[in-house]
Amino acid sequence: MPADEVPPIAPSGAGTGGGADVAPLQAALLDDPLDFLSAEHARQTVLLGHLERVARDPQGRTARELAAALLRWVTEELPLHVADEERSLYPRLARFDTEGMLARLCEDHRRDHALAALVGAGLRRLSAGRAPGPGFAGEALKFVANHRAHLALEEARLAPLARRGLMPEEVAALAAEMSARRRRH
Ligand SMILES: [Fe+2]
Ligand SMILES: [Fe+2]
Repeated sequence: MPADEVPPIAPSGAGTGGGADVAPLQAALLDDPLDFLSAEHARQTVLLGHLERVARDPQGRTARELAAALLRWVTEELPLHVADEERSLYPRLARFDTEGMLARLCEDHRRDHALAALVGAGLRRLSAGRAPGPGFAGEALKFVANHRAHLALEEARLAPLARRGLMPEEVAALAAEMSARRRRH
């Protein structure tokens, strides 16, 4: 493995003992894009636990390794997930949205994106072996709380709506768009 590459992060339960234990999901899982998004949410829940731990103990034994993985998540993987939702999933659910839920979820994304830039700067410093900066813990814990609430809403309200409401051809189009998005990265 090149020296500058973050060690592979195995799925939860299959870790090497002390790592972040959250591998990026395989694109092959996109056969069912709604399952893929829910699996992403489960993975994000684990990552948020790691971020909380790093925020509370940035000098901890595994903080530097976790910071590198978390940095990749907030700067590379999370934007892809948000694009899947805002460009591919939400528009197909707009006809069911009578309570403004999609606007609220998009607003959450804007808020998280702004916070993620601050959190990412601290993670970058931590992953380079430096102190994360004075505001890091507060920003990271705020991001964790915000994103946990966002995930809870998406899983409780959005996922069931998508499973009930989307036609098979819409699910297939969603899968194709998400696959194409990953081929471009
Ligand atoms: Fe999501
Ligand atoms: Fe989202």
